[in-house]
Amino acid sequence: MEAATERQVALETLRLQLEWGADEALGEAPVDRTRRQAMTRPAPALVERSPSLVATAAAKGARPAAAVRADEVAAAARSLQELRAALGSFEGCSLAATATNLVFADGNPGAELMFVGEAPGAEEDLSGKPFVGSSGQFLDRMLATIGLDRTKFLITNLIPWRPPGNRNPTDAEVLICLPFLFRHIALARPRRLVLLGALAARSVLGGNAGIRRMRGKWVEARVPGLDEPLPALPMLHPAYLLRTPGAKRDMWTDLILLKRTLEADLSGT
Ligand code: URA
Repeated sequence: MEAATERQVALETLRLQLEWGADEALGEAPVDRTRRQAMTRPAPALVERSPSLVATAAAKGARPAAAVRADEVAAAARSLQELRAALGSFEGCSLAATATNLVFADGNPGAELMFVGEAPGAEEDLSGKPFVGSSGQFLDRMLATIGLDRTKFLITNLIPWRPPGNRNPTDAEVLICLPFLFRHIALARPRRLVLLGALAARSVLGGNAGIRRMRGKWVEARVPGLDEPLPALPMLHPAYLLRTPGAKRDMWTDLILLKRTLEADLSGT
C-alpha cells in the first residue's frame, strides 16, 4: 500500500474507532492485534443447518414456475452485461413492476471479492446502484478502515428490485431472484464472497441459522456453475449495525478477519 493510502486508512480507522467509543489507549505500547492470530482458517465444511429454503422448496416441488423460468433465463446469459439485460426484461418477479430501477451491481466486476446484500432501499431504487443510502455509506466507511473501496470489490444484492415500502422479500421472490444471483457470481468468478445479513447468507448457504451464529468464519458456498465451492464470509448487515450499536464489536472482529484473509489470499486488494 502506498504511504498516502496507508495514512488515509489509518485515519479512517481512528475516526471509526472514536465513533464506536474506543477513545482511550489502554497500554503504554500499541498492540497490533490484527497480527496476533492466524486469521485465515481453512474454510470448514458447510455449517450444519436445517434444510435451506431452496432445498425445501425443491423437495416439495414447490418452486414457483417463475423460478424455473429464472433458471433458464439466467443460464442463457453469457456475460454480466447479458445478465443485466436479461434481468431488465424479466417479467417473472412482480417487484420489477413497482421498482423505479433495476439495481444490478456497483464496484469492480473483475474484482476477486464480491459482496452480496439483501435488497435495495429507497436511495438504491432511485439511483439504480446498491448500497448508496445510509447503510451503504456506513458500509463504505467500515470497509475504508481495512483499505477497501469500490474499485476493489463488486457489490450486489440477492434481490435486484426494491420491495415496496422496504418490506421483507417473500420466499417466492427469493426463489425467483436466486438463480440470477448465482449466475451473477458464476459469471463474475470472485475468489471470495461476503454475505451481508441473514437473508443473503441463508439464501446462498442454505439453512435457517441466525446471522449471529453464522458470522465470524469462512464457510463454503456451493454456487451452481462453479466447479469448486467458494469461500464465503457471512457478516452482520450494516443496517442492523446502525440499529444495534452493541454488535459493532463483532463487526470489527469480522472486518479484521476479512482484512487478514485478503492480505493472505488475494492479489489485487
Ligand atoms: N441494504 C441492502 O441490503 N442492499 C442495498 O443495496 C441497500 C441496503
